[in-house]
This record gives sequence, structure tokens and C-alpha cells, in this order.
Amino acid sequence: MATAPEHLDVPPAIVFRAMAEGDVSQVLAIERAAYAFPWSEGIFRDCVRVGYTCRAVELAGELIGYGILSAGAGEAHILNICVREEFRCRGVGRRLLEHLMALAREEGMSEVFLEVRPSNTAAIRLYQSLGFRQIGMRRGYYQASGGREDAVVLKCALEHLHC
Ligand SMILES: CC(C)(COP(=O)(O)OP(=O)(O)OC[C@H]1O[C@@H](n2cnc3c(N)ncnc32)[C@H](O)[C@@H]1OP(=O)(O)O)[C@@H](O)C(=O)NCCC(=O)NCCS
Repeated sequence: MATAPEHLDVPPAIVFRAMAEGDVSQVLAIERAAYAFPWSEGIFRDCVRVGYTCRAVELAGELIGYGILSAGAGEAHILNICVREEFRCRGVGRRLLEHLMALAREEGMSEVFLEVRPSNTAAIRLYQSLGFRQIGMRRGYYQASGGREDAVVLKCALEHLHC
């Protein structure tokens, strides 16, 4: 049987686990490399402390990504999802998002919301491919180098999710 090229493989051994405060320094390094306007260390520590669903993605014991979800009143919000640059485009982000959506459904949530920069086409394609649809726009929501950037608001219903 033909083997798929390595760059197209989803790393089979990725593991999702709860993020602990001890992970924050590594998470912060990935965050700072990924975003022009990264979250602060305090934001990540608060997310862990207040009990948001914070997940670390590991490959062979190495932290290669993370995702943060808040849930309540039937709604989940994906607050952050990030994959270390050298591990992107291999299906890790898709598996992480599916994992967070499955956790939200297990917690009894019926819908997931998120915001994304209109310029972030990689993330938008990922979200659309998993069923997210635009429901609105927040004007000037994000910091940007030339001033502010809008946020596209996306929503996905969870009732038909099978992951
Ligand atoms: C968005 C992000 C999490 C995607 O992670 P990833 O592991 O590279 O994504 P995957 O390999 O699982 O790709 C899933 C889908 O996303 C889309 N996608 C991912 N990277 C893309 C790119 N560079 N260009 C276009 N589409 C892309 C594709 O639709 C892809 O499906 P396909 O492989 O069938 O074409 C990653 O790019 C990232 O960490 N970016 C920096 C942080 C960020 O912007 N987070 C989102 C904030 S809202």
C-alpha cells in the first residue's frame, strides 16, 4: 500500500491533556512566536485558575500546541487555539479543534462561538471546514499594527457533531 507523504500525515501520536500552570512558560513561547499581539502570561494563568477548559497538545512529550475554551449557559467560546509553526499544516489544528468541540458537547453545550481576524485565512478555513459559519462582525475588536482590526464572529451548532 502506498504511504502518504510525511508532510500530509497527521502525527498519530499526538496527545491532548489538561494544561497546568507549569506549562505556561512553554505555552507563552509558542504564543509569542505565533501572534503579533500575544496574550500575556497572566491571561494564561488566569484561564487555568478559573477552570476554563485548557488543553495542551503533546507530541513525543513535547508541547506543540494548546487550546482554551470557556463554557457556560449552553454556549462554549473558543478563546485561543494555536499550533507551533513547525507542526502546522499536518492536521494538528483540526484535531485540536475537534477535541475542544467534543469536550464542549460533553459539557452539555449546544453551540460554540469564536472570533477571528478577517486576515487569518488559515484559521478561517479550518473553522469553516468544521462547520463554523459567520454570524456577525465586531468592529475594531483587535489591536493591529495600523490601528484596530475587526473580528469575524463565527458559530457552530454541536448537535450534529460526531467526533
Ligand atoms: C490556525 C492553526 C491553529 C491551524 O493549525 P494547523 O495544524 O496548521 O491546521 P491543520 O493542518 O489541521 O489544517 C486544517 C485546515 O485549516 C486550513 N489551513 C490550515 N493552514 C492553512 C494555510 N496556511 N492556508 C490555508 N488554509 C489553511 C485548511 O482548510 C486545512 O484543511 P486541509 O489541510 O484539508 O486543507 C495554525 O495555523 C495556528 O496555530 N496559527 C497561529 C495561531 C492562530 O492564528 N490561531 C487562530 C486564532 S483565531
